[in-house]
Formats: sequence, structure tokens, C-alpha cells
Amino acid sequence: MAEIKEVRKVETGRASIHSHITGLGVDENGKAKFKADGLVGQLEAREAAWVVVQLIKQGKMAGKGILLVGPPGTGKTALAVGIAKELGEDTPFNTLNASEIYSVDLKKTEVLTQALRKSIGVRVRQRRMVYEGVVKDVKMRIARSRINPYVQIPREVELKLATKDEERTLTAGETIAEQISKMGIRKGDVIWIDAETGNVVKVGKAKDVEGAKTFDIDTARTVEIPSGPVKKEKELTNTFTLYDLDLTLAAQSISITALFSLWSEREVSQDIRKQVDAYVKDMINKGTAELIPGVLFIDDAHMLDIETFSFLTKALEAELAPILVLATNRGTTKIRGTDVEAPHGMPLDLLDRLLIITTRPYSKEESREIISIRAEELDIELEPAALDELTSMAAEESLRYSIQLLEPSQVIARKAGRGIVKAEDVKEASRLFSDLKRSVKYVKEYENLFLK
Ligand SMILES: Nc1ncnc2c1ncn2[C@@H]1O[C@H](COP(=O)(O)OP(=O)(O)OP(=O)(O)O)[C@@H](O)[C@H]1O
Ligand SMILES: [Mg+2]
Repeated sequence: MAEIKEVRKVETGRASIHSHITGLGVDENGKAKFKADGLVGQLEAREAAWVVVQLIKQGKMAGKGILLVGPPGTGKTALAVGIAKELGEDTPFNTLNASEIYSVDLKKTEVLTQALRKSIGVRVRQRRMVYEGVVKDVKMRIARSRINPYVQIPREVELKLATKDEERTLTAGETIAEQISKMGIRKGDVIWIDAETGNVVKVGKAKDVEGAKTFDIDTARTVEIPSGPVKKEKELTNTFTLYDLDLTLAAQSISITALFSLWSEREVSQDIRKQVDAYVKDMINKGTAELIPGVLFIDDAHMLDIETFSFLTKALEAELAPILVLATNRGTTKIRGTDVEAPHGMPLDLLDRLLIITTRPYSKEESREIISIRAEELDIELEPAALDELTSMAAEESLRYSIQLLEPSQVIARKAGRGIVKAEDVKEASRLFSDLKRSVKYVKEYENLFLK
């Protein structure tokens, strides 16, 4: 019987300073609410992002790109997080900070290729023979382990499975017995077993089964008892990224010689990628898989260099391409690796292919709302005067600075034996931690004292 493999979930990006964001806060007609899903204001940009999400879901965005442009701290990264949340778990969303391409141990093209392939999902449908039903009885036969005779292990299991229409008794060997015992499967559970791999899946607890033990702490969801035969074909779907498939194939093809040369490089060979692509295309043609173009989000895209930009431009035109979302806070600046000045430090032929969404600086009211959402998220209680102080700091310095002062202010308040943060705590935090403007001024003032 085959080994049991765990299905890896498609990853979604998570950044803690954006943990309050749960979506784009846009209603079904595409209208953004002033404050919803953790987002405040920035209505046009959120509505534009919502349109992008709809296009992605309809599969109309593959190979296209979005550029988020706006001053620092105006919610570009926040918007990207909102897009990721709206897309849900099944659509890959992968975040790369532009500086990550300058990795010491991987080539730039390798980092980029991996990132692109992590952003393309393949939903695979499989029809498999399974035994499915509610457990009527479990009899476990325990035996001494062959490896360690002092340990007792489940050797064989006799299961009585029933649907609404049929009842069957099965006996199964060690692999299945072990899973049943580990998962604590007992009378009243609805399960299915993959007939080929022996993989056991617990669906939930059957509704009102006689004699099933229920415990107060039992939180398993209740499900209907399946109908039809116990042994049947079932359609299973899983989503993998191309990168998952690359790794799986790479792991299978490590040869003994590779072991001698200590297979330590983390690069995936082009050969393997070609095989994976061919395999995926084959599945798509046969109708057993479909492609889900996900999102590759590159933050601070002005940090990319000319080689990377041309690589990305080309990648957008490839057959298997994700949706590219770039963000930048730079106006006109040099394209890295050249002496050419260009808008956002990006070559025009790439810019030409991108839809641009702009974010604008926040009003005082908006900043206040954002700061209070962040405070709530961090469980920090602010006095109204403290919130006022932080709001005016956001206007004078930056929103990010105010947000960063939240936690230090709390520490200062606690030191004074208070649970609630007062304006004086915020002022003290601001005295201790300089913002960028002050730090630049300071450097200028004492320029001659610094090492050159
Ligand atoms: N409209 C918003 N609603 C709620 N929170 C927001 C909003 N805009 C920004 N924030 C929060 O404010 C902080 C700064 O925003 P963010 O990091 O998204 O700015 P940015 O535009 O990406 O800036 P930079 O150009 O420096 O990368 C984050 O904690 C973010 O979650
Ligand atoms: Mg950002």
C-alpha cells in the first residue's frame, strides 16, 4: 500500500502590520464603504482593486499587470493584502520584496522564476475509488511492533461502514489501522478511505446516529450520512502551484550520484520545469486539470534592476503567466543598473503593459480611523487625547510613524502603571524615537562628527 501524502495548502501572504485587513471592503455592486474589512478611505483605489479581483476570478488577467503608485504609507501594500484576502485560499498569491532578488545564494533569474511559479496554481481533479460511510463499528487488533517489541501498535482493523443504503465490513492492514487509531476515529464518524492509497479522511460526525458517543468538547462538524454504495468513485480536487509540482518531481529524481555530490543547491533545473509544464498541459488537454493564474506581488518595485524588468516583461508573455502586481512610492528616478531616468524607475515597455492604480495621502479623519483600527488590533487602549496626538503626528510626519509609536507608547504607559495610553505617553515615545525628518536634520547638524 502506498505512502500517505499530505496535501500542501496554497500559501497566502501574511504580514503582521497589515493583520487588520480582511478584504477590500467593497460591496457586491463594486462600491467601497468608507470603513470596512479593516480598510478606511482610499475609495477609488479600493474600487479599482475590486475590479481587478473580479477580472482575476474570471481568468481575464493572466499575463497582465497592475502598478500601485502612491506616496509612502498610503496603503499600497495594504491594498495588495486586501486583494489577496478577496481572492481566497485557492488562488495563489505570492509576495516578493524587490530586494529579495539580490539573494546571495540564488541567481536573480532563479528567485524570479521560483516566485512566478509559486504564483500559478493548477487545480487537479481526480476520480478515485473510495470507501465512504459512517462508522458503525471499529475493532482494532493490536500487536507488538516488529521494530520495537516493547511497543504495541495497531496491526489490523475491522471496520463496519454504512451509507443510508448499504452496510459493508472491511478489514484493513497496518497503514489504515494506524491512521484510524491516530485520528481517534470511532462510531458515528463519517469517513472515507482512498481504495488505492489507503489515505483516510474524516469528514465529520454523522447526524443523530444511535449509540454514538457525544462529548461536550467535541467540536467536529456534523454531516449527513452519505447515500448510495459504500464503494464508489469520488471526485477529488486539489490545488498545487507549479512550484509545488517542480519540487515533487525534483525530489523524485535525485539520483544516487547526486547524493554523493551532496545535493545542496536549492535550484530547480530547467529540465524539471519543462517536464512539469508538459505534464500540466497534458492534464489540461485531457480535462483533468485547470490552470489558476495567481498573483505575484512585488513590493518596492523600484528596487528591481533593468535585467529583472526585461525578464518580467518577457515572463508576462509566456504561456503560463501569473498576474503581476507591482507597488512603488518613487516618482521619476533612475532605472537601477542604467543611467536612464524613467517614471517610477521602470522601463517604458513594461509600464506600457501595466494598469495603474494610484493611492493618495490620507485626510486627518482617515488617519485617525486607521490609527484606531491598528490600536484595536494590537489591543492598545488610547485616550482620545492620545489619538489626537498620534493623528497630528501622522499629518506632520507620516502615518507609518504614528502606527509605529503605538507599541512604545503602551510600554511607557505600563511603566507608569496605566493600562490606558495618554497623550503624554505618545509624546514621550516620540521624544525617544526619532522620525525620519528629525533624523535627517540631526545628521545634517552633526555632519562633521560622523565617520566618512
Ligand atoms: N486605507 C487603509 N485602511 C487601513 N489601514 C491602512 C490603510 N492604508 C494603510 N493602512 C495601514 O497603514 C500602514 C502603512 O500602509 P502601507 O504599508 O500599506 O503603505 P505603503 O503605501 O505600502 O507604503 P510604502 O510606499 O512605504 O511601502 C500599514 O499598517 C497599513 O496596514
Ligand atoms: Mg508598502
